[in-house]
Amino acid sequence: MINAKSNAYEIAYDSSMNDRENFWAEAAKSVTWIKSWDKVLDETHKPFYRWFPGGLLNTCYNAVDRHVEAGRGEQTAIIYDSPVTNTVRKISYAQLQEQVSKVAGALTGLGVVKGDRVIVYMPMIPEALVSMLACARIGAIHSVVFGGFAANELATRINDATPKAIIAASCGIEGAKVIAYKPLLDHAIAMSDHKPDHCLIFQREQSVAELLEPRDVEWQKAVPAAHPQGCVPVGANDPLYILYTSGTTGQPKGVVRDNGGHAVALSWTMSAIYDVKPGEVYWAASDVGWVVGHSYIVYAPLLVGCTTVVYEGKPVGTPDAGAFWRVISDHKVSILFTAPTAFRAIKREDSEGKLLAKYDLSSLRTLFLAGERSDPDTVHWAEDKLKVPVIDHWWQTETGWAIAANCMGLHQYPVKAGSPTKPVPGWGVEVLDEVHEPCPPGKVGSLVARLPLPPGTLTTLWNADQRCFDSYYAEYPHFYKTADAGMIDEDGYIHVMARTDDIINVAGHRLSTGAMEEILSSHPDVAECAVFGVADQLKGQLPLGLVCLKAGVTKSDEQVAAECVALVRDMIGPVAAFKHCAVIKRLPKTRSGKILRGTMRKIADLEEFKMPATIDDPAILEEIAEALKKIGYGK
Ligand code: COA
Ligand code: AMP
Repeated sequence: MINAKSNAYEIAYDSSMNDRENFWAEAAKSVTWIKSWDKVLDETHKPFYRWFPGGLLNTCYNAVDRHVEAGRGEQTAIIYDSPVTNTVRKISYAQLQEQVSKVAGALTGLGVVKGDRVIVYMPMIPEALVSMLACARIGAIHSVVFGGFAANELATRINDATPKAIIAASCGIEGAKVIAYKPLLDHAIAMSDHKPDHCLIFQREQSVAELLEPRDVEWQKAVPAAHPQGCVPVGANDPLYILYTSGTTGQPKGVVRDNGGHAVALSWTMSAIYDVKPGEVYWAASDVGWVVGHSYIVYAPLLVGCTTVVYEGKPVGTPDAGAFWRVISDHKVSILFTAPTAFRAIKREDSEGKLLAKYDLSSLRTLFLAGERSDPDTVHWAEDKLKVPVIDHWWQTETGWAIAANCMGLHQYPVKAGSPTKPVPGWGVEVLDEVHEPCPPGKVGSLVARLPLPPGTLTTLWNADQRCFDSYYAEYPHFYKTADAGMIDEDGYIHVMARTDDIINVAGHRLSTGAMEEILSSHPDVAECAVFGVADQLKGQLPLGLVCLKAGVTKSDEQVAAECVALVRDMIGPVAAFKHCAVIKRLPKTRSGKILRGTMRKIADLEEFKMPATIDDPAILEEIAEALKKIGYGK
């Protein structure tokens, strides 16, 4: 029986809410500052709060150099494990310092200075981390673009971030496929209005890129020849990075993260949430292109002196469903963090977990899951097979770290499968109804977080303060709107149920159905369309599109549908996983013209639904059911 405020979680939570500034000032002691902050929290531009203004630090120094100075130079900082290239490479903190200083020197040689943006378009290789840290070292702002995006998405980001330089690899390797990045990069630059001065290209032997000199510079030549650069002092509120994420339109949101609050918050989470110690091996099986990769492949593990694993492979197929167990056993991983979809993929191929018997998993203490709701089946399967706590935690690109979790370093609560447990200290999570009143326990409403948000969360959207305000702060004054719906139960556990906007979650990847609709509408034969997420056993959700054709189209329905699928892949990229599209005669709408996407989703997912009272013609739903059946959905 836990008494009120009797455990470390409750004490920390109480202090983070009622003595906020002291709580985070205490946490900030784990970071090495060049100059201390003038005040802990600046509230003068609400709702745009600033943590540690006036402070000076360097994030790269904190993640690399100080560990070398403290005697950790020989410890492994990065383990690169790449089943797709049959490579395992270990990089010590001292080697990392040398490599990062040299790449920082190469960037400086290309004219990159503090405040400039640098786009990083790289697969899961150590050079991606080195590039990010090199930017941080000289105060340049990196913006990593996930490799599964198409040239068009890269071009959108180039235009928005206006980078001085782009760092890219010649190719990525996806299972058995070699994906040449350089043609995508060239195409993106040709499409964009802004042109970077230089591209620094890391050549991989699997697909050596042709360089367009003098714009393109080869990493393997420029980096060895560069003068190593030291760490420059950076303001706590200066941006460290921009990370683009799906918004409700085709224009992605550039989430801006600062240097000071980010270093403080991430360092604190490593002990409070993950309960991991310096020197231990921490593995986030994600991609550097996502927020999980930024926070928990790169910055957090290195900030606290852990060893981080960079895994270039998949949970299955590289070579089999035992891949994760091999990595844990080979590298003595203490903490694994991944998305539930990865475990669903493993479970699908090896439901009895037979491959586990081949490996020694005794080093593994905890499995953390995030990126999408952890379904109870997956949680129980993982608990049963791994015999370690399986901890769901809820967060977003915007928040940079978990809003809700079972904080393993503070107090371990009993797991309720399907719930990410309680709000993490710093997070005043509430559930509000349609009239913005708090919901009673158990009632579903909008999940919001009381302002100010803790350090390390978004400071704004790049070049878009107003969009930031409109997206997150306008609807619920004094709160941050998560755009997730959910409830808090009688025990104070949070349950995250669904997005309140048009974002869907496909294999832990966040995608906008609105952006896909914009693309389908641009097809010359399409008059109207709707895209919605349908349930998928492996990926959680998959996008499904229905299109109505313009009068006089002579192509077959199948041909237009195939063209629509190709168009989304071409414009967003393979990561959209948009493979199901059907042509229909008309879309079901309310009398006021609103498309009934929710009803169509329920038909596709075989869920019960009530005939919407405002539907203009109920007969359309029969037609929809027929069309869905033809592409394998519904009855
Ligand atoms: N570069 C280029 N292409 C990429 C890519 C990358 N970095 N990542 C994915 N793709 C491609 C894939 O090759 C695939 O292409 P295809 O349509 O030609 O087959 C497509 O994008 C969809 O990829 P994905 O959603 O990853 O599906 P998958 O079928 O290849 O693998 C899983 C399914 C479940 C194994 C995989 O999604 C996975 O490992 N997920 C882990 C979740 C994760 O890392 N989430 C990040 C947030 S924590
Ligand atoms: P992203 O910004 O890509 O990290 O996606 C954030 C969204 O993923 C959230 O708004 C949620 O909808 C969903 N999400 C992430 N983690 C969880 C979780 N543990 N439980 C439920 N949903 C989650």
